[in-house]
Amino acid sequence: MSNKQQRTQITVIVGTQWGDEGKGKITDFFAGDVDYVIRYQGGDNAGHTLKVNDEVYKLHLVPSGVLYEKPISVIGCGVVINPQTLIEEISGLKERGKSPRLMVSERAHVIMPYHIAMDEALTGHQGKLAAGSTKRGIAPVYADKMYRHGIRMGDLLEPAIFEEKLTRAYQFNKEIIEKVFNLRYELSLEDIYTEYLSYGDQLKGYITDTELILYRAYDEGKTLLMEGAQGMSLDVDHGLYPHTTSSNTNAGQIFSGAGVGFHGDRRIIGVVKAYLTRVGISPFPSEILGKEADLLREKGNEYGTTTGRPRRVGHLDLVQVQQAIRVSGITELALTKVDVLSGFKKLQVCTSYDIDGETVTEMPGSLGKIRRAKPEYTTLDGWEEIDETQIENFCEGGFDSLPSAMKDYILFIETEVNCLVTIISLGPERNQTILR
Ligand code: GDP
Ligand code: IMO
Ligand code: MG
Repeated sequence: MSNKQQRTQITVIVGTQWGDEGKGKITDFFAGDVDYVIRYQGGDNAGHTLKVNDEVYKLHLVPSGVLYEKPISVIGCGVVINPQTLIEEISGLKERGKSPRLMVSERAHVIMPYHIAMDEALTGHQGKLAAGSTKRGIAPVYADKMYRHGIRMGDLLEPAIFEEKLTRAYQFNKEIIEKVFNLRYELSLEDIYTEYLSYGDQLKGYITDTELILYRAYDEGKTLLMEGAQGMSLDVDHGLYPHTTSSNTNAGQIFSGAGVGFHGDRRIIGVVKAYLTRVGISPFPSEILGKEADLLREKGNEYGTTTGRPRRVGHLDLVQVQQAIRVSGITELALTKVDVLSGFKKLQVCTSYDIDGETVTEMPGSLGKIRRAKPEYTTLDGWEEIDETQIENFCEGGFDSLPSAMKDYILFIETEVNCLVTIISLGPERNQTILR
């Protein structure tokens, strides 16, 4: 227990909105100094972009500490893994001269081809109540985990066990696809068995008891950086259900998703994009449509990292951020893409909803209410366009050197949600960042 109480060993990076807030960038920003960087939920529905010296890396499963030598990357048991994606991601990184020091939990569940087929079928079936999934098999793999016939990464290393479990899971999924959805499912059990054993063989050097290793590392006083995927409104319990993903995206998930009962202080950094984007289907009270939306989408390059879909855009919604702070126990905020808002004369920020004639400041749990929620805005002054040289100067000069309307925007957010903005991101590059 030696060093445990002396410093903040655990830092969590968590999304406060609908994902794509810039968690990858912020994780990379802090990852150089830590011992472990850990993904603890979600799967390759996530797309985290890092930019360092004009080199862009798009990661779906490998944690965003991989560009540094020091930290060990861990994919925890709360993550669901498409082994094919993982193998491709590892080899893509190797081709670019990075050799991931990676560990994968033997307890993490495997996304199987029938999960992807099922995801497609389910989205059609759910119609207006769908979330517009990334079609990566996320809901079906988490469902199989809860049914308790899921396949885990460790199973891919034990052929007899894998065959026994796969036989049951394959039959279940094939019958649903064919009998419930009336679709054909052509892949044979034998082909899947052979293909996935080969994935196990290729990944066997990484698959291990990460929970125990992380526990021991924590006990020795090592530092752990937790990288969340998705964001508050996609949380399966606290988000806009059923328009969510299928995991808990809030910071509480670090315990079960990394598999360690952490205690002591934690730094929980909520990542907030300075405006709002949503890829997929759900009510979106502060959504902007038309030309203004196109302008913001283009300026922010708001196209999905995973699916390439154009992201819906809107005004910053502090009702949502407030909920994230409450549920995740966020201790500070990282405000990203502030540069993108430059050049707009006025900026609107949603601070409450009008629901059935009443002003509501907390996110409702009722689907009916969120469908009827109308945004109530505070309007703030914008600031002039800024160029790369100005951004460089601001990053050198710190918070005080920022345009006063930008400072006011940041201070307004802090005051409204009662949480300090300690990190300001003014561009995708690692060094386009201000610490306060
Ligand atoms: P994540 O899923 O939360 O990691 O976010 P994504 O990587 O999907 O989307 C964020 C996008 O914005 C990426 O393309 C980043 O390179 C980019 N980005 C991150 N921070 C900033 C910023 O402060 N300014 C600008 N202009 N781009 C940023
Ligand atoms: P990162 O980590 C943005 C959305 C999908 C869909 C819903 C359910 O990059 O922030 P799923 O495939 O999980 O069943 O889809 O969740 N979604 C994301 N949106 N960023 C993400 O991850 C997302 N992961 C899932 O668009 O609405
Ligand atoms: Mg993303």
